[in-house]
Amino acid sequence: MTATRQERPGHAGLGQALMAAGVLSSDWAPAYAAVPRGAFLPELMWPWDVGAGRSVAVSRVEDPEAWQAYAESDCPIVTQWDDGEHTGTEPGAVATSSASMPSVVFRMLRDLDVRPGDRVLEVGTGTGWNAALLAHRLGAGNVVSVEVDGGVADAARKALERFGVPVEVVQGDGFDGWDRGAPYDRVVATCGLRAVPVAWMRQCRPGGLIVVPWGTHFGNGDAVARLTVAEDGRSASGPFTGPVEFMKLRAQRLPPVVHREYVSGSVADGDTRTTPLVEEAFLDGERFSAHGFALGLLVPDCRQVVAWKEDGARPVWLYSLSDRSWACAQFRDGERTRVWQHGRRRLWDEVEAAHVWWQENGRPGHDRFGLTVDDGGHWAWLDDPSRAWPLSVPV
Ligand SMILES: C[S@@+](CC[C@H](N)C(=O)[O-])C[C@H]1O[C@@H](n2cnc3c(N)ncnc32)[C@H](O)[C@@H]1O
Repeated sequence: MTATRQERPGHAGLGQALMAAGVLSSDWAPAYAAVPRGAFLPELMWPWDVGAGRSVAVSRVEDPEAWQAYAESDCPIVTQWDDGEHTGTEPGAVATSSASMPSVVFRMLRDLDVRPGDRVLEVGTGTGWNAALLAHRLGAGNVVSVEVDGGVADAARKALERFGVPVEVVQGDGFDGWDRGAPYDRVVATCGLRAVPVAWMRQCRPGGLIVVPWGTHFGNGDAVARLTVAEDGRSASGPFTGPVEFMKLRAQRLPPVVHREYVSGSVADGDTRTTPLVEEAFLDGERFSAHGFALGLLVPDCRQVVAWKEDGARPVWLYSLSDRSWACAQFRDGERTRVWQHGRRRLWDEVEAAHVWWQENGRPGHDRFGLTVDDGGHWAWLDDPSRAWPLSVPV
């Protein structure tokens, strides 16, 4: 659905494509038509360019046509790098604020299932576009949005006022929610979480919905969890609705794993064996596959790093986040896969057992998994919430 500069479907054309794809529902179509994403984007922005395979700098002053074309495309657009420390035109190191892909925005709004008069808390204001869509539908007074970054919050506040939807934008840590505006009927996060805060359950009414991109540190991918708050307000539970990738809640980002802090010598320091697993079965094709998501649910405190394939060989590294154990599987075309493991944890054994479990359960997609959050922690389940297993989440 991403438009090239030549295609230029325009705002209306993108809306039709989103409807045809089933992500823009008819109840959200009037808000989509009335609230163009471009009204919330800065003069200099970094859309993801599919052709180039990277974020590219686009200035409204220097190339207004390109700027407009990207604003009306189904692509994510970075609006801040490195928590605002980055200067200059070229992309920075870590994208820290963005306007999400329209298809993702409307998938999540569909999951949020708002009703007239609902009060909504959004965590992660970003540009303010999502808050403006909600305000168009529900009234600006029924939407509160929390943004951790002062500069981002200011810009969003101004854009929302300019557009005529003066949503309350609170600068603060959205992990705490926003007690003063509670109770909410809906809570929606537009940043990825590793732990869902209990505060959101307390601030959302019983029967209300929390829609949140959630995942484990196993990889960068998340899935959208659609949690219903229990009648006693002490837990929230529900299925995942599909894969998604979001920049993470600031305090829940995983710092980059430093290889040499794990492997001081060579891979040969590990105990070695072979495995019948081959690359295609193990990586399951897609970058954010249900397979990788499932492994993250089953193998606690582990980070997977998939290296580039070179000369027919692809190493996959596993790093323990609870100690310095590591494992490496070397997938090589036409050869048996060799594995090395080192440390107290036998990480490859854990991951292989999880892989076998996933296969034996019919290779479930994201939507067969679910999440329950209560005072005692986080729980994952497959098909049946009553057969949940505990998860290790960062506190
Ligand atoms: C993908 S952007 C949000 C997109 C936005 N909803 C829009 O319509 O443009 C994620 C935002 O979450 C913010 N964020 C990260 N951690 C946060 C936190 N702890 N509390 C509130 N906002 C946070 C980031 O600063 C960033 O602006």
